[in-house]
Amino acid sequence: MILKIVKYPEPVLQQPGEPVTEFNDDLRKLVADMFETTYASQGIGLAAPQVSVSKRITVIDLSGGKEAEQRLVLINPEIISTEGKQYEEEGCLSFPEIREKIVRAAKVRIRAQDENGKWFEMDGEELLARAFQHEIDHLDGIVFLFRMSPLKRSLNLRKIRKMQNDGTW
Ligand code: NI
Repeated sequence: MILKIVKYPEPVLQQPGEPVTEFNDDLRKLVADMFETTYASQGIGLAAPQVSVSKRITVIDLSGGKEAEQRLVLINPEIISTEGKQYEEEGCLSFPEIREKIVRAAKVRIRAQDENGKWFEMDGEELLARAFQHEIDHLDGIVFLFRMSPLKRSLNLRKIRKMQNDGTW
């Protein structure tokens, strides 16, 4: 089922998600729906707050649904170490048409639970490291607008306001 993606400034995007404690069929159904929603929107990652579920769940697939082994489900994820810096363009399904360069760590190591509750650790570099940081930020109630420089943030806020007034946001 394709879920509705909420846009900034929906309050659910700006509050920390609750930890997941039950690994049941409802969770697995939500994860499946989140992948379906990501692919339908041509995204590479989605966090539960973006579909109005304030929980620490995110899905990532850098192949956009083309390679099954690229599907990553991160439940209650945490960044355990970071290394270096990267400065690349990012987008977000809750900010249609906004793309901006964001400073992120170049490499990150995360720990997370899978959809059965099993803990694992994983390393990411480049785009995957960026996806980990962007999606885990969502679970902490932080949207990428607040990772931009103050100047870029105000320019983008102005662009969003204009689209809201035009009815295109
Ligand atoms: Ni996002």
